[in-house]
Amino acid sequence: MEEAIGLSSMNGRVLICAGSDSGGGAGIQADIKTVTALGGFAATTITALTAQNTKGVFSVYDIPINFIKEQARVVLQDLGADCVKTGMLHNADVIKAVAETLETEVPGAPLVVDPVMVAKGGHQLLEPTALDILKSELIIKATLITPNVPEAELLSGMVIENVDSMRSAAEILLALGPRAVLIKGGHLAGESLTDLLVTESGERTYSGPRLDTRNTHGTGCTLASAIATGLAQKYELENAIERARNYVFNAILSAPGLGSGHGPLNHAHTMQAIVDN
Ligand SMILES: Nc1ncnc2c1ncn2[C@@H]1O[C@H](COP(=O)(O)OP(=O)(O)OP(=O)(O)O)[C@@H](O)[C@H]1O
Ligand SMILES: [Mg+2]
Repeated sequence: MEEAIGLSSMNGRVLICAGSDSGGGAGIQADIKTVTALGGFAATTITALTAQNTKGVFSVYDIPINFIKEQARVVLQDLGADCVKTGMLHNADVIKAVAETLETEVPGAPLVVDPVMVAKGGHQLLEPTALDILKSELIIKATLITPNVPEAELLSGMVIENVDSMRSAAEILLALGPRAVLIKGGHLAGESLTDLLVTESGERTYSGPRLDTRNTHGTGCTLASAIATGLAQKYELENAIERARNYVFNAILSAPGLGSGHGPLNHAHTMQAIVDN
């Protein structure tokens, strides 16, 4: 009997291809915590290491391309994946390496592409010349892309000031080939906050109150990983997004208040404390 004990409720394998955030609030660390907190199994392909805290990204250490490919290949050939999520892929070679490996090893799996370009503190995380490769190699194959407002502006070439212009930009992005586009409204002003989903068959807005807080480090990574977990668990896309938004909202609400910059979320709010002190 080699069956694992105690893992029977773990459901949905997610392969995350993204960068490490040493501060633990965003990137691979946020992704693993999110998938785990929602009952999935997280495996990773790390594309870069960042020296980072709540105040910013201090330096980036690239992982060699062949080693990026090997991480994905050996995981997929043995453990498999029910959904793939991509985050920080910082240049054209990394994007091509990830896209090619996924195409060969896990064709047809749902793919959530978070087109990470700039960190919350302003650090550039994608070489501008790689934008066309991102579109032609990865966005075209995506089940869902999750740009924030500045990313949607760069990808669509238009200015976004409100939900109406979000809608126009989303139509431009949908024409690039993904099955669905979710433009996140975190960067717009206003008391309420709206994320907009556009697919071939229509649109849906997700609105809620904007929390007045500095603790929003990694909200984007967390949202995309939560959606990917839902897709791996066979949720319909709209329901996966609904659950993911609730998860992020409560993670911001219960944030631990660490650091002095953009503070991390509480990814563990779905879990019961097991330490009694
Ligand atoms: N202040 C807030 N209050 C409530 N929800 C928020 C707040 N900020 C962001 N969110 C939610 O978090 C999710 C991520 O949105 P956001 O626009 O912050 O992404 P992002 O810019 O990609 O984040 P990151 O900088 O971490 O990459 C969205 O669902 C958004 O609605
Ligand atoms: Mg983001």
